[in-house]
Amino acid sequence: MLENARLRVEKGVIRTFHARRGRVTKNQIFALENYFKKFELPEGPWNFQELFGNKDVVYEIGCGSGESTIGFAKANPNSLIIAVEVHRPSISHLVESAHNENLTNIRVCYSDAVQVLRDWISDESLKAIYAFFPDPWPKKRHNKRRLFRAEIVDLMQRKLKPGGEILAATDWQEYGKQMIEVLPNSTLTNRPSWRPKTKYERKGIEAGREIMEVSGSK
Ligand SMILES: C[S@@+](CC[C@H](N)C(=O)[O-])C[C@H]1O[C@@H](n2cnc3c(N)ncnc32)[C@H](O)[C@@H]1O
Repeated sequence: MLENARLRVEKGVIRTFHARRGRVTKNQIFALENYFKKFELPEGPWNFQELFGNKDVVYEIGCGSGESTIGFAKANPNSLIIAVEVHRPSISHLVESAHNENLTNIRVCYSDAVQVLRDWISDESLKAIYAFFPDPWPKKRHNKRRLFRAEIVDLMQRKLKPGGEILAATDWQEYGKQMIEVLPNSTLTNRPSWRPKTKYERKGIEAGREIMEVSGSK
């Protein structure tokens, strides 16, 4: 059961996330016990054809509470979105919303999304990769932990189908510039119509920061 699950964390790897366990409330435990199974994926490596037939598969790194995941799934009923998160309270929120909305095109994974991408996903199999408001790691000495750094972007590119896209958003201008620099065929883009404003985004706006939407493609 996820409420007791330990995160599989590799040693010697520069992680993109804070090691926070996050208190899980009674309501969240209820959601995990009752809804997580419905959306959980088995351990990989995954064969998308066997699991999802011919559906386009999209991969979301660090989905948080899953507001964007839900927005995407509702707007794209014929695609399948895999949302990966290391924070259990956020996952409980996502599976509860997905259950309440009767969505069947969401799968959830409680793991380090970078490891999963590397070990469980075949090359050239994803239609798109999304990472909205990845942790900015603003201190110079922490910059190396950012998700959009060369070796992880190379990994993302390998997993995308030809023509596949990477979409990101940040409220941290300097990180946005880094995204533009490291993403192939990068450009500033418009916010996807299905992406709602999340808690993180609102905080950034309230603090007077501008939102940058960035895309790249293979
Ligand atoms: C600033 S939050 C943004 C959440 C959400 N995407 C949004 O727009 O509100 C970044 C999230 O990414 C998650 N995260 C960071 N690195 C991750 C990784 N390697 N695998 C899975 N989740 C990760 C964190 O736990 C955190 O919940």
